[in-house]
Amino acid sequence: MPITDFERYPLTFGPSPVHELKRLSEHLGGARVWAKREDVNSGLAFGGNKTRKLEYIVPDILDSGADTLVSIGGYQSNHTRQVAAVAAHLGLKSRLVQERWVDWDDPVNDKVGNIELSRIMGADVHLDSAGFDIGIRSSWENAIAEVEAAGGRPYPIPAGASEHKFGALGFVNWAYEVAEQEKDLGVLFDTIIVCTVTGSTHAGMIAGFAALEAAGGPKRQVIGIDASATLDKTRDQVKRIANNAAGLIGLGRDITDAEVDIRSGWEGPAYGIPDESTINAIRTTAELEGVILDPVYEGKSMAGLLDLVGNGAVGKDSTVLYAHLGGQLALNAYSSIF
Ligand SMILES: Cc1ncc(COP(=O)(O)O)c(C=O)c1O
Repeated sequence: MPITDFERYPLTFGPSPVHELKRLSEHLGGARVWAKREDVNSGLAFGGNKTRKLEYIVPDILDSGADTLVSIGGYQSNHTRQVAAVAAHLGLKSRLVQERWVDWDDPVNDKVGNIELSRIMGADVHLDSAGFDIGIRSSWENAIAEVEAAGGRPYPIPAGASEHKFGALGFVNWAYEVAEQEKDLGVLFDTIIVCTVTGSTHAGMIAGFAALEAAGGPKRQVIGIDASATLDKTRDQVKRIANNAAGLIGLGRDITDAEVDIRSGWEGPAYGIPDESTINAIRTTAELEGVILDPVYEGKSMAGLLDLVGNGAVGKDSTVLYAHLGGQLALNAYSSIF
C-alpha cells in the first residue's frame, strides 16, 4: 500500500529543514551541495534519524500493549537515546543494552553524551562488553526475556530499528518529503549522500525514490557511505531491508544490486574510530558552515561527499542532497581528537 496509508505517530516537528551549504559548495568547486537536517528534526532529546523511523513503529508499540521498550546499541548509541526519549514521551519504560561496540578508551565514553541523556530520561541502562555487530544479539534477547520474567511487557526494537518490519518506512517517507520540498525550493536533487550502518535509513530511501521514479519521478543516485568497515554485511542488510520496504509499499519489483550503491574508503579503521579524513570533514564543515558532524557517522559520510564532489566523481552540474542524520552528542566522548 502507498506510504501515505501507513499509520504514523508524529514525533518530529514536521518536514526536516533543507538548506544549501553555499560556502562548502564554493570551497569544493563542483556540484552544489545542500543538506537535509535530521539532526534538528524533533524536540525529543535532540532527535535524529531513529526518531523518524520510530514514527512508523509507535502505532505497533501502542497496539501491542507493551510497557517497556527494549533496545540495543553501542555505549554512545544515538538510537538507544532516541528510544529512551520516545519511551518517556509515551509514558513507557525503556531497557537498553549498551555494548562496547567501539574500542575507544576515552574515560567518559560510557558516561557522557547519548548515554548520559538516556539515564536522565529514566532508561534502565545495562553495559555489556560485547563488540560491534549489526545483527541480532543474545544480550538483547536476554534483556527481552528478563523484562518478561519480571512481569513486564517488552516491545523489542533491534539495533538502529533496522531489522524491524516497519524500520525503513520513515525513510521511504523521507523520499516523498524531499520530492515535495524540491517543488517549494525549485531544485532537483539528482544525488543523495547518506551514511549507512544498520541499513534501514539508506534502504528506505532506495525504496522510496524507486517508488517515486516508478510514478514518473526523476532518476536519482542514492549513494550510501559505509561507516562500519563491514561492507559485504551492510550491502546484504540494506538490500534485504530495501526489498522488504519495496514489498510493503507495493513497488512491484525487486531492488537491484545496482540500486544498492554503498561506497567505502572513508570508514576509518573500524566502526566508531575516526581517521584523518573523518576529522578533516568535521573541521571543514564546522569552519565553513557552522554545521556540526560527529566522528562515528556523519564525519565519515561527509568525508565521502568531500571527495566525491571535490574530485568530480559526482559531476559539476549535479545538485547533491547530504542527509545529516544527527549524532553530535557522541562528540562528548571524543574531545581528545580536537
Ligand atoms: C547519527 C547517525 N548517522 C547515521 C546512522 C546510520 O543509519 P542506519 O543505521 O540506519 O544505517 C546512524 C545510526 O546507526 C546514526 O545514529
